[in-house]
Amino acid sequence: MMIIDGKKEAELLREEIKKEILKIKKSKNKVPGLTVILIGNYTPSQIYVKNKEKNSKEVGMNSDVIKYSDDVSEKEILNKIKELNNDQNVSGILVQLPLPKQIDKEKIINSIHPSKDVDGFNPVNVGNLSSGYQGLVPCTPMGCLMLIKKVEKNLSGKHAVVIGRSNLNGKPMAQLLLKENCTVTIVHSKTKNLQQECLKADILVAAVGVPNLVKKDWVKKDAIVIDVGINKLNDKIVGDVEFDQVKDIAKAITPVPGGVGPMTIACLLKNTLECFKASQT
Ligand code: GUN
Repeated sequence: MMIIDGKKEAELLREEIKKEILKIKKSKNKVPGLTVILIGNYTPSQIYVKNKEKNSKEVGMNSDVIKYSDDVSEKEILNKIKELNNDQNVSGILVQLPLPKQIDKEKIINSIHPSKDVDGFNPVNVGNLSSGYQGLVPCTPMGCLMLIKKVEKNLSGKHAVVIGRSNLNGKPMAQLLLKENCTVTIVHSKTKNLQQECLKADILVAAVGVPNLVKKDWVKKDAIVIDVGINKLNDKIVGDVEFDQVKDIAKAITPVPGGVGPMTIACLLKNTLECFKASQT
């Protein structure tokens, strides 16, 4: 059994990014820039955004966080995004979710120019991914796939089961696995016989936000198990997988924390760098 060290893998990826930015800085005297819009004072969002800011600075990118109170109007945010879309110093734009109720998430996501959409949530990028075309890929599923490929390079013909069908994680994860020639099943809250479906998985990705949902009798021997969940349970952070039980059955498993989480932010930096490079050609 192998515990996949997401913290270490993320560090390696950040090192690569840092080197590339240093090279760019030397040759062009410019660096990529990430701008994050943070609305309101929801604590998890504040923590994520702080982390993003810290990590982007560490790899040598410009990082800007624009904060608004939670009664800001939709119009004001849309105007700001328009300005950022046209700002050559801004390589990537990220609007931290969730948003307050007066702001329409769909409108906001649609307003970010696809070439600066480091989250990969704009329907243009969603469509590119599902068509198998070039585009920006959501950070968490990208990080998950990198971790899976550290364990197994060739995923062709493997049965992958993704638990959860969100636009952020489940759906793009399924698309990426399909691109790798997996046979992909998406299961969700209305699925009949969840356990039986999960037991078929060579690769099991849990992204539902239900603490310790996946038990040891849900997992096939030697499966690769990726846990996207970050849940609070009795003041402890736990994933969607009952780690202590499942680790002895799985071939490889990600812990929570220290698995997928660090990879998400490293992939965000990777996307920002990609946006920058594309803007220079
Ligand atoms: N909130 C939680 N996860 C994410 C994410 O990946 N991107 C954005 N923009 N907001 C989030």
